[in-house]
Amino acid sequence: MILHTIDIMWMYILKKPFLDANIYLFPRLARALTCNLMTPRQNKSSVWKNSQMLCNTQLRGMVGLIQDRASSGSTSRNSKLNWSFPVLDGSIPPEQNEMIEANWRNNEVCTQRYSELLGKVCQREKGDILRHTQENHKLLVRDRLRLVLDDDDFFELSPLAGYDLPYGTVSNAGCLTGIGKICGVWCMLIANDATVKGGSLYPITVKKQLRAQDIAMLNHLPTVYLVDSGGAFLPLQAEIFPDQYHGGRIFYNIALMSSMKIPQVAVVCGSCPAGAAYASTMAEETIIVDNIGSLFLAGPPLVKAATGEDISVEELGGARLHARGSGSVDYISSTEEEAYERVRSVVMTFNRGQSPKESMKYADPLYSPEELKALAPQNYEYSLDVKLILSRLIDGSQFQEFKAEYGTTLVTGFAYVKGHLIGLVANNGELTHQASLKGSHFINLCSHRNIPILFLLNTVPQTSRCMSLAQAEDLGRKFKAQACMMATIACAEVPKITLVIGGYFGNDSYAMCGRSFNPNFLFLWPNARIGLVDCRSPFADFLEGDEYLSMDKSTLKHLEKKLETESTALYSSARLWDDGVILPQNSREVIAKCLEIIKQKDHQTFICQQQPILRM
Ligand code: COA
Repeated sequence: MILHTIDIMWMYILKKPFLDANIYLFPRLARALTCNLMTPRQNKSSVWKNSQMLCNTQLRGMVGLIQDRASSGSTSRNSKLNWSFPVLDGSIPPEQNEMIEANWRNNEVCTQRYSELLGKVCQREKGDILRHTQENHKLLVRDRLRLVLDDDDFFELSPLAGYDLPYGTVSNAGCLTGIGKICGVWCMLIANDATVKGGSLYPITVKKQLRAQDIAMLNHLPTVYLVDSGGAFLPLQAEIFPDQYHGGRIFYNIALMSSMKIPQVAVVCGSCPAGAAYASTMAEETIIVDNIGSLFLAGPPLVKAATGEDISVEELGGARLHARGSGSVDYISSTEEEAYERVRSVVMTFNRGQSPKESMKYADPLYSPEELKALAPQNYEYSLDVKLILSRLIDGSQFQEFKAEYGTTLVTGFAYVKGHLIGLVANNGELTHQASLKGSHFINLCSHRNIPILFLLNTVPQTSRCMSLAQAEDLGRKFKAQACMMATIACAEVPKITLVIGGYFGNDSYAMCGRSFNPNFLFLWPNARIGLVDCRSPFADFLEGDEYLSMDKSTLKHLEKKLETESTALYSSARLWDDGVILPQNSREVIAKCLEIIKQKDHQTFICQQQPILRM
């Protein structure tokens, strides 16, 4: 990292609190300092040691760890850049200071709540840990992942899933999902956590696994299953078993993924009764750990109850029986460590080209991403120009704006993020008729040119009031143009990443590639608010005057409170309406990581195959 002498001098003189407080008083100085003071990547092994550290790691960007700036970012500053998009002016107008401060304070509160929860959902009862490690002699799930992966660069998805659901909190939804490199290849990992109710599958566990498989399919990622699960969580069987997107879908997807030439390997590293057995026996290759892994439809107690026969786990469905007798597994390992080494050997045989280690040249943004903490909008009504946000996310703050003068409430254009070319579609006010037409045109361009699209979503709540004929006509035109934009997005065959930076309200969010439009990844900032209507002025807009006035005050209050809770980013993430909450200042790292993962597909050749691998 090259520091200018003046910066070094100031670093000794100034303390960080001063820096935080004075970021707006001395923006240029603050910018220079925050750029140079960013934390370099931290020590690998500590990530796994305790939940506090885990929490910190996730806060540093969903474990999308900050890349060593020495490797490319800073050094490339001096290199000759081979593009010349115009540079955005990202300086914050002084008249916006009040709003900036309000955003900053709001962001602090939301971030604190987020980090507290993250710490909470990663904690496990001591008794559960002892049962798992000492009685059952198994490794904890994060240690397992560490053994499988090349390094600690595990891009964990939706860690808050399962928090405070109607049926209680299911920590991390009872399984970890995320993307990491094995032998240089980005892979999806789906790992049960048997310290959470024996790894049994709650409805939210099923949903999390299905989403991980979706992401694997969208990004063509080989998938590794670490199976250690008591099968369906029986008290909730009606919400897990019968429906289309319930448990059976996991097995359906395994077959589908195989037919798409997405290789899958499973490790049986615990007891796998009933449904848990299918994931293992449907994967293309399966490894079992001797004396730890077992597969059966019903365990010894059920056999005893049904037939009166006493039988041990090993006799009924142990490693040797399946490796030698049934053939349901392909490799037997004497220890867990050996099994995870075996996974790595199997991944080598996937015959996937490793993504070349490109040291892409890129410039850092001219404005520090740290300043995004104060730009994360507290309220969609406090409209700051979205280009202030863009200038802190993209390389060199350089942006080739498309149709700058038309439909200005949507900003579209091209930029680079850590050397990856992207198309940007960002809300900058209401998604009007003109803005939507422009959006469709731009998305089409990206689709034709195979350029991934990043949506910065900040939409306003629905309003149903229509006071005049002119307004009605205007609304009609707007909806038609939005329908056009939705159709364009739905059919655009390019990767899409959606980042919710503020409001995620109403129909407009569909046209901005909300969850139902199947983006490859969707993340929220902690300040995001999600809903059809805004809980802060919800009913006046929708109910006729008399109806509104006649409503019982306590009913109204109750409804407002309910909407308020249901609109938060944490509520959304607990239910898997997104792939996780990320901090504004880490967004550039996370987006770059997603783009790198998405790009892996370009380095691989696939031969079309219509049939999955059929196991013997
Ligand atoms: N449904 C509901 N709860 C389950 C469960 C399931 N399928 N599997 C395990 N649990 C619960 C246990 O009741 C226990 O709850 P508690 O902590 O409140 O007492 C907790 O998970 C841990 O289970 P425990 O048996 O103490 O742990 P273990 O590591 O010794 O054994 C299993 C784990 C999975 C081997 C064992 O619990 C088991 O055989 N479960 C039943 C599996 C089954 O029949 N599944 C059929 C699904 S269709």
